[in-house]
Amino acid sequence: MKFNGRKLSVEAEKNWERLEEIPIKELIGSALRAREKAYAPYSGYAVGAALLTNELRIYTGCNIENAAYGPSICAERTAISKAVSEGWRRFKAIAIAGGPKGETISGYAYPCGVCRQVMREFTDPEQFLVIVAKNETDYRIYDLKELLPDSFGPESLNE
Ligand code: THU
Repeated sequence: MKFNGRKLSVEAEKNWERLEEIPIKELIGSALRAREKAYAPYSGYAVGAALLTNELRIYTGCNIENAAYGPSICAERTAISKAVSEGWRRFKAIAIAGGPKGETISGYAYPCGVCRQVMREFTDPEQFLVIVAKNETDYRIYDLKELLPDSFGPESLNE
C-alpha cells in the first residue's frame, strides 16, 4: 500500500488510517532542522529527530557526542529525554534524519538498538511509527514492532 506516494512496510500498513493524523512532513522538517544542531565532532555523523507526543506536541533532538565517547547520546534519546522531562510520556511517532555532517542526506538513518529500547519504554510497539527520512519527500515508515520484535517492556516485569 502507498501513502502520500510512499511505500509503507507491511506492518505499517495496518496503521495507515492513523498516518493521516501524523504531520509527516512537519516532523521530517523538524528533524532536519534539529540535525543542524548536532554536536558530532568525533564521528562526523549528524542526526536529527522529531518526536510527536499523543497531544501533538513536537520535541526535537540531535546527537551530542563526548570526548570520552561513552557519554554520547543519540538524537532520538535527546528528543525523548526532553519530552519526558517536561511531563510528556506517550508518543505517536518519531522522524529521524542522519548522515555525514554538512552533506545532503543520501541514506536512511535507522535508530540504534538502545534507542529502539528507549522508544519501547514509552510506546505501544504496534502503534508507534518510526519515520526514517532523507528529506520531506523521500522517507520510509515502520512501526516499532518491526524494528524491535518480541521486545521486553514495562509490563514484562509483571509476567
Ligand atoms: N546516532 C544517532 O544519533 N541516532 C541514530 O539513530 C544512529 C546513531 C549518532 C550517535 C553518534 O553520535 C553518531 O550518530 C554515529 O554513530
